[in-house]
Amino acid sequence: MCGIVAYIGPEPALPIVINGLKRLEYRGYDSSGIALIESDGNRGNKLVIRKKKGKVSDLLDHIGEEVFKSSVAIGHTRWATHGPPNDINAHPHRAESNRIALVHNGIIENYTTIKETLHNRGHALLSDTDSEVLAHLIEEVMTNGDLSLFEAVRTALNQVVGAYAIVVIDKDNPTKLIAARRSSPLVIGLGEDGSYYAASDATPIVPYTKNVVYLKDEEIASLELDNGLRIRTISNLKITPQVQALELEIESLEKGGYEHFMLKEIFEQPKSIRDSLRGRIDLKKGEIRITGVDDNWEKWDNASRIIILACGTSWHAGLVAEYLFEDFTRIPVEVEYASEFRYRNPIIREDDIVIAISQSGETADTLAAIKTAKDAGAHVFSLCNVVGSSIPRESHSGAYTHAGPEIGVASTKAFTTQIAVLTAIALHVGVKKGRLPRERFLRLITELNGIPELVDSVLKQADIIYSVADEFAESTNALYLGRGYQFPVALEGALKLKEISYIHAEGYPAAEMKHGPIALIDESLPVIFIAPKDDVYEKVVSNIQEVKARGGRLVVVVTEGDNEATALADYVISVPKCDPSLSPLLTSIPLQLLSYKIAVLRGCNVDQPRNLAKSVTVE
Ligand code: G6P
Repeated sequence: MCGIVAYIGPEPALPIVINGLKRLEYRGYDSSGIALIESDGNRGNKLVIRKKKGKVSDLLDHIGEEVFKSSVAIGHTRWATHGPPNDINAHPHRAESNRIALVHNGIIENYTTIKETLHNRGHALLSDTDSEVLAHLIEEVMTNGDLSLFEAVRTALNQVVGAYAIVVIDKDNPTKLIAARRSSPLVIGLGEDGSYYAASDATPIVPYTKNVVYLKDEEIASLELDNGLRIRTISNLKITPQVQALELEIESLEKGGYEHFMLKEIFEQPKSIRDSLRGRIDLKKGEIRITGVDDNWEKWDNASRIIILACGTSWHAGLVAEYLFEDFTRIPVEVEYASEFRYRNPIIREDDIVIAISQSGETADTLAAIKTAKDAGAHVFSLCNVVGSSIPRESHSGAYTHAGPEIGVASTKAFTTQIAVLTAIALHVGVKKGRLPRERFLRLITELNGIPELVDSVLKQADIIYSVADEFAESTNALYLGRGYQFPVALEGALKLKEISYIHAEGYPAAEMKHGPIALIDESLPVIFIAPKDDVYEKVVSNIQEVKARGGRLVVVVTEGDNEATALADYVISVPKCDPSLSPLLTSIPLQLLSYKIAVLRGCNVDQPRNLAKSVTVE
């Protein structure tokens, strides 16, 4: 949600911050803006702000041929919460005197109270945003209290309720940036030439330095040329910065010849699944190792229940995990939307294991839900993709998916790697607890290890899948149906189509179709059945018959060599044979490609679908 990037150093700041904004655009693309400090001749310095509704390219058009020499700048790309996306609500924001400017990600919950107080004291606020109040408040605190910029920001933040990552500049202090966070991520980069970077995630920093400090909650940092990096808590305790080495490679942030990040990420799945399992499956010894599980084995061994918490696509991976864990470990599983869990009065026990699944590791609702679970004494294990993000840091233990950066807003490789690692964990726990026969375990780990090749063979059928997409690009609705392991796949298939092509789609358990969605079926409705050979195959074939009898247009995803479902279908996509428990790793791939192609044919912005953001750091 909203992307922040800031630079201070010896180089011109504009290109660095603009490039950073382009890399962060996946976090929000309602508007973008930049603030710089330019010399104003013998009048000292002046603050220059350029901001524009729309994408970073619109901001660039707005800046046009203007030249800026400033070597300090803050930039922002917005996903609107308070106030519609327009030029005025775009960040950076400033106060009347034009002295300081700030960018903010998060939500100031008490902003109406602060706004009213500021208004009564004569401040004129221009925008509808919660963020603008911070600029006025900081400037007022600084002027009235004769405080340094650092102290002014710290003091102002003590009056704020809510979540924030902010970076502030002051035209009268052009050698420093002040950055602070609470519940919204912020990472600081330390350049070898004495420069500093601050950003919502490491993607804008990686071209310039590998040395970073992840700011923790309630911390405020001063990034000052010649004076170094200073961190304190908002309550004024001194903190020693912990510098870490970034493991991100610049190539992983480029499209690498693909037309879209989403397509690149779909095609990366054989590699990303392999990476997610690397070092975890040992075929020679016939075992799986998951450090975060093994180091806390007593918890897993004694768990009376597993609660899975997640949002969006990660929640769908959680549903697949429910089937996996119950099948292999016989531990009861509940899968919860984190946003619902956190606001009801859930029963959480000390012998519960909570698995939090999140690509970004920053989703606000998932983060809050695990805090609730932790407070109630449960053991929290997280499965995330972004190393060092907030959710793993808040968890007792965990594992990373190692999928590499996922830039396309519609999640693809994050989903399949989550399933791959969850499968490995469920197999491991199952056999270690003696609930899964060793023979079955050995057969399944061998198959799981070979899944990347099978994913590759599904990807080789892209052209067949694209030709199916040609038939459905004009549709207005679609129905995705599956049973058992394929039910979550149906939900995810429908979500992918909705997200990027804006076609209304629903995922349903195939048998439940009779209790409502069957009324929708006519000759214009595409019905996508996911029907690989498994225990419920015959039942699904009956469901296919029911749709055929009512004239629906049938696409079926089947196992290679299938006859029955194939005979009923208008369009057939086949995937290689594998154990039903591993099949979501294969059947979800054609659905990703189908959505991708349909969205492209409809002229949609595949990587940046309207209204969505990659990382939802507001509740
Ligand atoms: C957003 C993204 C989805 C993602 C969801 C959960 O809605 O657009 O792709 O599945 O957040 O994100 P997380 O990072 O927690 O997996």
